[in-house]
Amino acid sequence: MSLLNPVICVVGARPNFMKMAPILRAMAAHVPPLPVLLVHTGQHYDKDMSARLFDDLKLPAPDFNLDVGSGTHAVQTADVMRRFEPVVDAHSPACIAVVGDVNSTLACALVAVKKGIPVVHIEAGLRSHDRTMPEEINRILTDQISDRLYTTERSAQDNLLLEGVPASHISFVGNVMIDSVFFGRTSARRAQTTLQAYQADTRVLNASAGYGVVTLHRPANVDDPDVLRALLGVLRDVAARLPLVFALHPRTRHNIDRFGLMGLVEPARMVLLPPQGYLDMLGLMAGATVVLTDSGGLQEETTALGVPCLTLRENTERPITVEQGTNLLVGRDRVAILSAVQDILAGRGKRGRVPELWDGHAGERIAADLYAWLKQRQTSTDKATTLLAA
Ligand code: UD1
Repeated sequence: MSLLNPVICVVGARPNFMKMAPILRAMAAHVPPLPVLLVHTGQHYDKDMSARLFDDLKLPAPDFNLDVGSGTHAVQTADVMRRFEPVVDAHSPACIAVVGDVNSTLACALVAVKKGIPVVHIEAGLRSHDRTMPEEINRILTDQISDRLYTTERSAQDNLLLEGVPASHISFVGNVMIDSVFFGRTSARRAQTTLQAYQADTRVLNASAGYGVVTLHRPANVDDPDVLRALLGVLRDVAARLPLVFALHPRTRHNIDRFGLMGLVEPARMVLLPPQGYLDMLGLMAGATVVLTDSGGLQEETTALGVPCLTLRENTERPITVEQGTNLLVGRDRVAILSAVQDILAGRGKRGRVPELWDGHAGERIAADLYAWLKQRQTSTDKATTLLAA
């Protein structure tokens, strides 16, 4: 293996793109540059879920698109594995780099580890301790088969050590997701511009002193009709106090239609938008009075932006956003949600600080560490080869 062998970098679904973009930039800027092949599994394929984010984040076009599309977890994971294997075989990578916790992350890591190719996991060690979440299974398994693990907060290292990962495999580098916030914030689209594009600005921005942003897509929140109905009811109550901009994930849009719940959406106070591009979403969040979400990424981005965040889940794999940031776990409890919104509107919202190493330079730290690590592995391999030949 030489350093001329590429690092195969994998992206599959929306939350992967903002994590990988700064890493690719840093690898290209490293001296010497690290050779890279970018694989998009195609887990997310809609323009709004993929191409638009590639544009906003200035991601290069993928070298390979596996076009797996949607399916059950088993089908999607298996399809990624079957289609990824020939790419690995054809390019003898120095390692593969995966980010986050989506099905594509685990699928590609599994293919590589079984071929003896080192796996590098970025955003390792996060744990919700809730094994009903598909992402939790993906995180635990990916970390167990990774050779180099980069963490975003110190609690992640504790989780990994408890699971038997050697400390020497782990490096705390900070949060690449926040690198993208730094990258995008000067060009983020103003909320007014985004809302004007949907003729929604007068309803939301001119009607009051503020607005809230909502995203929901976790199966636990949107796949059960009773749960989704109850949540939409709470949001309608929130909207009576503060107009809401709701960027709808395809899963959520589909379920609202399928369960006949569109009637719960209060058109005068709740604006439904399609999934937003990265720069639109950043602008909407930056200008919001509060963000209500079940997304992992938004919990971190709001902490970096200093915007109050109410997380509609019972747990979080990103505890630092609660301990130090602006995040508050409110679950699905109507009273807790309404009272938290009331506090924020009364100026008693949670204030936070930006966590350690969420400074816009995590990608550079990863590129530097990865280069040194690959170099060291190469030296060890060369020495072993020389010894065997002697
Ligand atoms: C996936 C990730 C989740 C991440 C989320 C961000 C897993 C297990 N889940 O969930 O961790 O937070 O992405 O969005 O990997 N669909 C489209 N167009 C698309 C993609 C999906 O219409 O481009 C629809 C399809 O009906 C599909 C459904 O959304 O069945 C769910 O997509 P899927 O990739 O299975 O999971 P997500 O809910 O997006």
